[in-house]
Amino acid sequence: MLEAMTQEALLAALRLQLDWGADDALEDAPIDRTVARVAAAAAPAEVTPPAAARPGGRPGGQEAPAVLIPSRAPTPGATRAAALAAQADSLPALRAAMAEFDASPLRETATNLVFADGVTESGLMLVGEAPGGDEDRLGRPFVGVSGQLLDRMLGSIGLDRAKDFYITNILPFRPPGNRTPTDAEVALFLPFMLRHIVLAKPRHLVLLGGVAAKALLRSKEGITRLRGRWHQVTISDDQSLPALATLHPAYLLRNPAAKRDAWADLLSLQRHLASQ
Ligand code: URA
Repeated sequence: MLEAMTQEALLAALRLQLDWGADDALEDAPIDRTVARVAAAAAPAEVTPPAAARPGGRPGGQEAPAVLIPSRAPTPGATRAAALAAQADSLPALRAAMAEFDASPLRETATNLVFADGVTESGLMLVGEAPGGDEDRLGRPFVGVSGQLLDRMLGSIGLDRAKDFYITNILPFRPPGNRTPTDAEVALFLPFMLRHIVLAKPRHLVLLGGVAAKALLRSKEGITRLRGRWHQVTISDDQSLPALATLHPAYLLRNPAAKRDAWADLLSLQRHLASQ
Protein backbone atom coordinates (compact mmCIF):
# COMPACT_ATOMS: atom_id res chain seq x y z
CA MET A 1 0.00 0.00 0.00
CA LEU A 2 2.72 2.37 0.96
CA GLU A 3 5.28 2.78 -1.81
CA ALA A 4 8.10 5.30 -1.57
CA MET A 5 6.47 8.60 -0.65
CA THR A 6 5.23 10.47 -3.67
CA GLN A 7 5.81 14.16 -4.15
CA GLU A 8 2.14 14.65 -3.31
CA ALA A 9 2.53 12.83 0.03
CA LEU A 10 5.70 14.76 0.85
CA LEU A 11 3.88 18.02 0.21
CA ALA A 12 0.99 16.82 2.37
CA ALA A 13 3.48 16.06 5.17
CA LEU A 14 4.96 19.54 4.79
CA ARG A 15 1.53 21.15 4.81
CA LEU A 16 0.65 19.29 8.03
CA GLN A 17 3.86 20.49 9.68
CA LEU A 18 3.03 24.08 8.69
CA ASP A 19 -0.54 23.58 9.84
CA TRP A 20 0.81 22.50 13.22
CA GLY A 21 3.07 25.52 13.55
CA ALA A 22 6.43 24.02 12.53
CA ASP A 23 7.24 26.92 10.23
CA ASP A 24 10.88 27.48 11.14
CA ALA A 25 13.95 25.39 10.29
CA LEU A 26 16.23 24.94 13.31
CA GLU A 27 19.12 23.20 11.50
CA ASP A 28 20.92 24.19 8.35
CA ALA A 29 20.57 20.70 6.93
CA PRO A 30 17.36 18.64 7.13
CA ILE A 31 17.32 15.61 9.45
CA ASP A 32 15.47 12.59 8.10
CA ARG A 33 13.86 11.45 11.34
CA THR A 34 11.96 8.67 9.61
CA VAL A 35 15.31 6.97 8.87
CA ALA A 36 16.63 7.59 12.38
CA ARG A 37 13.66 5.73 13.78
CA VAL A 38 13.83 2.69 11.54
CA ALA A 39 16.25 0.83 13.82
CA ALA A 40 14.04 1.44 16.82
CA ALA A 41 11.03 0.29 14.86
CA ALA A 42 12.70 -3.01 14.08
CA ALA A 43 12.88 -3.82 17.79
CA PRO A 44 10.23 -6.46 18.59
CA ALA A 45 9.37 -4.67 21.83
CA GLU A 46 6.96 -2.40 19.93
CA VAL A 47 4.39 -5.13 19.58
CA THR A 48 2.66 -6.16 22.75
CA PRO A 49 1.85 -9.87 22.46
CA PRO A 50 -1.43 -11.12 23.84
CA ALA A 51 -1.23 -11.25 27.63
CA ALA A 52 -2.18 -14.91 27.55
CA ALA A 53 0.80 -15.71 25.31
CA ARG A 54 3.35 -14.20 27.68
CA PRO A 55 4.94 -16.33 30.33
CA GLY A 56 3.90 -14.95 33.68
CA GLY A 57 1.08 -12.80 32.29
CA ARG A 58 1.34 -9.01 32.40
CA PRO A 59 4.88 -7.86 33.19
CA GLY A 60 4.90 -4.93 35.56
CA GLY A 61 1.12 -4.87 35.45
CA GLN A 62 1.40 -2.00 32.94
CA GLU A 63 0.15 -3.48 29.72
CA ALA A 64 -3.40 -3.81 28.58
CA PRO A 65 -4.81 -7.33 28.56
CA ALA A 66 -5.60 -7.83 24.90
CA VAL A 67 -8.03 -10.72 25.04
CA LEU A 68 -11.62 -9.69 24.55
CA ILE A 69 -13.32 -11.44 27.42
CA PRO A 70 -16.23 -9.47 28.86
CA SER A 71 -15.39 -8.30 32.38
CA ARG A 72 -18.89 -8.99 33.63
CA ALA A 73 -21.88 -11.02 32.53
CA PRO A 74 -23.37 -9.57 29.33
CA THR A 75 -26.66 -7.70 29.65
CA PRO A 76 -29.69 -8.98 27.69
CA GLY A 77 -29.09 -6.15 25.20
CA ALA A 78 -25.47 -7.20 24.64
CA THR A 79 -26.55 -10.83 24.28
CA ARG A 80 -29.02 -9.79 21.59
CA ALA A 81 -26.38 -7.64 19.91
CA ALA A 82 -24.03 -10.64 19.88
CA ALA A 83 -26.71 -12.88 18.33
CA LEU A 84 -27.60 -10.33 15.64
CA ALA A 85 -23.94 -9.63 14.91
CA ALA A 86 -23.09 -13.33 14.61
CA GLN A 87 -25.83 -13.83 12.01
CA ALA A 88 -24.46 -11.07 9.78
CA ASP A 89 -22.32 -12.60 7.05
CA SER A 90 -21.38 -9.44 5.17
CA LEU A 91 -20.83 -5.75 5.92
CA PRO A 92 -24.21 -4.71 4.44
CA ALA A 93 -25.89 -7.42 6.56
CA LEU A 94 -24.10 -6.13 9.64
CA ARG A 95 -25.20 -2.59 8.88
CA ALA A 96 -28.80 -3.81 8.54
CA ALA A 97 -28.55 -5.72 11.83
CA MET A 98 -27.29 -2.62 13.62
CA ALA A 99 -30.09 -0.53 12.15
CA GLU A 100 -32.60 -3.09 13.41
CA PHE A 101 -31.09 -3.28 16.92
CA ASP A 102 -33.33 -1.20 19.19
CA ALA A 103 -31.89 -1.83 22.66
CA SER A 104 -30.15 1.54 22.90
CA PRO A 105 -31.89 4.89 23.44
CA LEU A 106 -29.11 6.44 21.33
CA ARG A 107 -30.91 5.08 18.28
CA GLU A 108 -33.91 7.26 19.14
CA THR A 109 -31.98 10.51 19.55
CA ALA A 110 -29.66 10.05 16.56
CA THR A 111 -30.56 11.22 13.07
CA ASN A 112 -28.60 8.56 11.21
CA LEU A 113 -26.78 5.32 11.79
CA VAL A 114 -23.10 5.98 11.08
CA PHE A 115 -21.60 2.73 9.86
CA ALA A 116 -18.24 3.18 8.11
CA ASP A 117 -16.37 4.92 5.33
CA GLY A 118 -13.35 4.23 3.14
CA VAL A 119 -12.23 0.93 1.65
CA THR A 120 -11.58 -2.43 3.26
CA GLU A 121 -9.17 -3.77 0.60
CA SER A 122 -6.16 -1.92 2.00
CA GLY A 123 -6.25 -3.95 5.23
CA LEU A 124 -6.00 -0.87 7.47
CA MET A 125 -8.97 -0.13 9.73
CA LEU A 126 -9.29 2.90 12.01
CA VAL A 127 -11.68 2.90 14.94
CA GLY A 128 -12.92 6.10 16.57
CA GLU A 129 -15.33 6.80 19.40
CA ALA A 130 -18.76 7.88 18.24
CA PRO A 131 -20.28 10.13 15.59
CA GLY A 132 -20.46 13.86 16.26
CA GLY A 133 -23.03 16.33 14.93
CA ASP A 134 -21.75 16.43 11.33
CA GLU A 135 -21.40 12.66 11.16
CA ASP A 136 -24.90 12.20 12.56
CA ARG A 137 -26.31 14.58 9.96
CA LEU A 138 -24.48 13.01 7.02
CA GLY A 139 -24.38 9.36 8.16
CA ARG A 140 -20.62 9.08 7.58
CA PRO A 141 -17.85 8.85 10.18
CA PHE A 142 -15.19 11.51 10.64
CA VAL A 143 -16.51 14.15 8.27
CA GLY A 144 -16.47 17.08 10.73
CA VAL A 145 -13.50 19.17 11.85
CA SER A 146 -11.74 16.34 13.65
CA GLY A 147 -12.26 14.07 10.63
CA GLN A 148 -10.77 16.71 8.38
CA LEU A 149 -7.75 16.95 10.65
CA LEU A 150 -7.46 13.16 10.64
CA ASP A 151 -7.55 13.09 6.82
CA ARG A 152 -4.77 15.70 6.71
CA MET A 153 -2.71 13.74 9.22
CA LEU A 154 -3.06 10.50 7.29
CA GLY A 155 -2.45 12.36 4.02
CA SER A 156 0.89 13.42 5.46
CA ILE A 157 2.02 9.79 5.42
CA GLY A 158 0.50 9.11 2.02
CA LEU A 159 -2.81 7.59 3.12
CA ASP A 160 -6.05 8.55 1.43
CA ARG A 161 -9.47 7.51 2.72
CA ALA A 162 -10.67 6.77 -0.81
CA LYS A 163 -8.16 3.96 -1.29
CA ASP A 164 -5.96 3.34 1.73
CA PHE A 165 -8.09 2.80 4.81
CA TYR A 166 -11.45 1.96 6.28
CA ILE A 167 -12.87 3.88 9.22
CA THR A 168 -15.63 3.33 11.74
CA ASN A 169 -16.56 4.06 15.36
CA ILE A 170 -17.19 2.04 18.51
CA LEU A 171 -20.72 3.51 18.65
CA PRO A 172 -22.79 3.85 15.47
CA PHE A 173 -25.05 6.52 16.99
CA ARG A 174 -24.22 9.99 18.24
CA PRO A 175 -24.48 10.42 22.01
CA PRO A 176 -26.63 13.51 22.69
CA GLY A 177 -24.55 16.65 23.05
CA ASN A 178 -21.47 14.71 21.89
CA ARG A 179 -20.91 13.42 25.40
CA THR A 180 -18.42 10.62 25.99
CA PRO A 181 -20.02 7.18 25.56
CA THR A 182 -20.72 5.38 28.82
CA ASP A 183 -19.12 2.00 29.59
CA ALA A 184 -22.57 0.43 29.25
CA GLU A 185 -23.04 1.87 25.75
CA VAL A 186 -19.60 0.65 24.71
CA ALA A 187 -20.32 -2.85 26.07
CA LEU A 188 -23.70 -2.93 24.30
CA PHE A 189 -22.22 -2.19 20.89
CA LEU A 190 -18.97 -4.13 21.30
CA PRO A 191 -20.31 -7.35 19.69
CA PHE A 192 -21.12 -5.35 16.54
CA MET A 193 -17.67 -3.78 16.62
CA LEU A 194 -15.96 -7.16 16.88
CA ARG A 195 -18.07 -8.59 14.07
CA HIS A 196 -17.28 -5.49 12.02
CA ILE A 197 -13.57 -6.28 12.36
CA VAL A 198 -14.12 -9.92 11.41
CA LEU A 199 -16.09 -8.98 8.28
CA ALA A 200 -13.86 -6.09 7.18
CA LYS A 201 -10.80 -8.37 7.56
CA PRO A 202 -8.21 -5.70 8.37
CA ARG A 203 -4.58 -6.70 8.93
CA HIS A 204 -3.86 -3.69 11.15
CA LEU A 205 -5.96 -1.48 13.39
CA VAL A 206 -5.52 2.09 14.57
CA LEU A 207 -7.43 2.93 17.73
CA LEU A 208 -8.25 6.62 17.86
CA GLY A 209 -8.57 7.87 21.43
CA GLY A 210 -9.25 6.40 24.82
CA VAL A 211 -12.73 5.01 24.20
CA ALA A 212 -11.67 2.87 21.22
CA ALA A 213 -8.36 1.87 22.80
CA LYS A 214 -9.87 0.87 26.15
CA ALA A 215 -12.76 -0.99 24.54
CA LEU A 216 -10.70 -3.07 22.11
CA LEU A 217 -7.69 -3.56 24.36
CA ARG A 218 -9.89 -4.29 27.36
CA SER A 219 -7.77 -1.89 29.34
CA LYS A 220 -8.45 0.52 32.13
CA GLU A 221 -5.35 2.52 31.30
CA GLY A 222 -5.72 5.97 29.79
CA ILE A 223 -4.83 6.78 26.22
CA THR A 224 -1.71 8.71 27.23
CA ARG A 225 -0.25 5.43 28.52
CA LEU A 226 -1.61 3.25 25.74
CA ARG A 227 -0.71 5.49 22.81
CA GLY A 228 2.37 5.12 20.68
CA ARG A 229 2.54 1.35 21.17
CA TRP A 230 1.50 -1.56 19.01
CA HIS A 231 -0.75 -3.88 20.95
CA GLN A 232 -2.39 -7.08 19.90
CA VAL A 233 -6.20 -7.13 19.71
CA THR A 234 -7.63 -10.61 20.01
CA ILE A 235 -10.96 -11.03 18.27
CA SER A 236 -11.43 -14.72 18.97
CA ASP A 237 -9.39 -17.72 20.11
CA ASP A 238 -7.68 -17.99 16.76
CA GLN A 239 -7.76 -14.41 15.49
CA SER A 240 -5.74 -11.42 16.56
CA LEU A 241 -4.18 -8.46 14.85
CA PRO A 242 -1.79 -5.62 15.63
CA ALA A 243 -3.32 -2.34 16.78
CA LEU A 244 -1.70 1.05 17.25
CA ALA A 245 -3.31 3.20 19.93
CA THR A 246 -3.08 6.92 19.28
CA LEU A 247 -4.63 10.22 20.29
CA HIS A 248 -8.04 11.21 18.99
CA PRO A 249 -7.96 14.11 16.50
CA ALA A 250 -10.59 15.99 18.56
CA TYR A 251 -8.15 15.87 21.49
CA LEU A 252 -5.44 17.28 19.24
CA LEU A 253 -7.68 20.17 18.30
CA ARG A 254 -8.06 21.00 21.99
CA ASN A 255 -4.45 20.25 22.93
CA PRO A 256 -2.12 21.39 20.14
CA ALA A 257 0.96 20.47 22.21
CA ALA A 258 -0.01 16.80 21.86
CA LYS A 259 0.49 16.94 18.09
CA ARG A 260 4.12 16.06 18.65
CA ASP A 261 3.08 12.68 20.09
CA ALA A 262 0.53 12.21 17.32
CA TRP A 263 3.23 12.82 14.74
CA ALA A 264 5.44 10.15 16.35
CA ASP A 265 2.48 7.75 16.17
CA LEU A 266 1.91 8.55 12.50
CA LEU A 267 5.53 7.73 11.76
CA SER A 268 5.16 4.48 13.66
CA LEU A 269 2.13 3.63 11.50
CA GLN A 270 4.02 4.53 8.35
CA ARG A 271 6.95 2.29 9.32
CA HIS A 272 4.65 -0.55 10.29
CA LEU A 273 2.82 -0.43 6.94
CA ALA A 274 6.07 -0.14 5.00
CA SER A 275 7.41 -3.25 6.74
CA GLN A 276 4.42 -5.42 5.72
N1 URA B 1 -15.23 11.60 16.51
C1 URA B 1 -15.28 10.25 16.42
O1 URA B 1 -14.77 9.53 17.27
N2 URA B 1 -15.91 9.74 15.37
C2 URA B 1 -16.45 10.46 14.40
O2 URA B 1 -16.99 9.88 13.47
C3 URA B 1 -16.38 11.87 14.51
C4 URA B 1 -15.76 12.41 15.57
